[in-house]
Amino acid sequence: MTFEAALRSAVGPEHVLIDPDLRASYERDWTGRFSGESRAVVRPATAGEVARVLEACTGARVPVVVQGGNTGLVGGGVPPAGPADNPPVLLVTTRLADLGEVSLAARQVTVGAGTTLAALAAHARAAGLDFGVDLAARESATAGGMVATNAGGIRVLRHGSMREQVAGVEAVLADGRIVSRLDGLAKDSTGYDIGHLLAGSEGTLAVLTRLRLRLVAAEPERAVAFVAVAGTSDAVDLLASILPKLPGLCAAELCFARGVELVARHLGIRPPLEGAGDAYVLVEVAGEVDPVDDLLAALASCPQVLDATVAASAADRARLWALREGHTEAISTLGVPVKLDVSVPVTRLAELAGRLPDAVAAAEPAADLLIFGHLAEANLHVNVLGAADTEGVTSAVLSLVASLGGSISSEHGVGRAKARWLGLSRSRAEIDVMRSVKAAFDPLGLLNPGVLLPAE
Ligand code: MLT
Ligand code: ZN
Repeated sequence: MTFEAALRSAVGPEHVLIDPDLRASYERDWTGRFSGESRAVVRPATAGEVARVLEACTGARVPVVVQGGNTGLVGGGVPPAGPADNPPVLLVTTRLADLGEVSLAARQVTVGAGTTLAALAAHARAAGLDFGVDLAARESATAGGMVATNAGGIRVLRHGSMREQVAGVEAVLADGRIVSRLDGLAKDSTGYDIGHLLAGSEGTLAVLTRLRLRLVAAEPERAVAFVAVAGTSDAVDLLASILPKLPGLCAAELCFARGVELVARHLGIRPPLEGAGDAYVLVEVAGEVDPVDDLLAALASCPQVLDATVAASAADRARLWALREGHTEAISTLGVPVKLDVSVPVTRLAELAGRLPDAVAAAEPAADLLIFGHLAEANLHVNVLGAADTEGVTSAVLSLVASLGGSISSEHGVGRAKARWLGLSRSRAEIDVMRSVKAAFDPLGLLNPGVLLPAE
């Protein structure tokens, strides 16, 4: 049997895409920054089918790139650019989308790795619970991709990142063996936690097929405010002041005047609080009862507040959130940015925001810098438009972050985009251990080569 015939027999002929036109949308990431050619796009629907695909790839020594909803921002889910002697199979997980029954007693659910975040959250809400992680790409991002990148999003301050939601996984190893730990035991002290190890492994160790995920209490009442402050330092102080007063605080997002104006123009609305300050903090509080009075009282006690608008309705809340969540799309209308997702200790956030313009200008004098991010995790999304020297700008920003004791990837993963710079955030010994782990899971190095770990 030829290799292609083995793939067809594994998943059915209609789910092996060989025609370049049919492969094209999978082979390019949505930002347009990363693309590469695959041998075939393969869309399995069960762990057994994934196992047969991986067995075929291992037998033929064909690399495999794993893709969920193709919303990644670091090129980890598309084939490498340029001509390849041995192009990869692009294994797309979106058909692995089964939704298991919600366990109210355990507050957990088992879902297929290709389940979208929106479908997962709707499923949890239909059972009276909620899912703790939320992010702007919710309609397309998949649970498996989010675990693989240890995605964060807008509610990390309340519920943690994806790794914290993982109570178990089912995954297929490169040789086709299936490891399954989906019982979701509340206590289990039997050695290495494979599920937590796979969280953040970016498809380099195994292909996630099902996930046992923790759910959280539904908090139906919400209050959202958009607050103008003088700058990043005041935003940090504002958060420190409201945190102890608002136990239901579930989001604190940071934007700047330039980005908010851009998004407002893109949405065709007037920017709120125009001219009030250089930075804005979007604050959301959730609870069983309407938390708006608590939010107003907390903000009233903060000298950092220059001006604020508090949403009066669900539509208002959505409008304020659109100003924050619209950044990515609005920026992409100006061009294909170099996107860097970084975090520093919160005490260094103002310094980072203050030094970024000079660091970027030194590398690329004509480049345009836009930043926004997640205030509570001191996580900035650094977008640089018009940079001819992508590597130079990346080096400048990531070196600054490392010098401040930060991480070169806060929530997007390392992917292909930042593998070269992993040594800025991880020591030699750590990278050695990571390579040993990789070799134990994937001895032939077929899973997502070039992603996460730099070439030796
Ligand atoms: C966000 O927080 O909106 C996302 O991480 C997307 C991005 O950085 O563009
Ligand atoms: Zn983000």
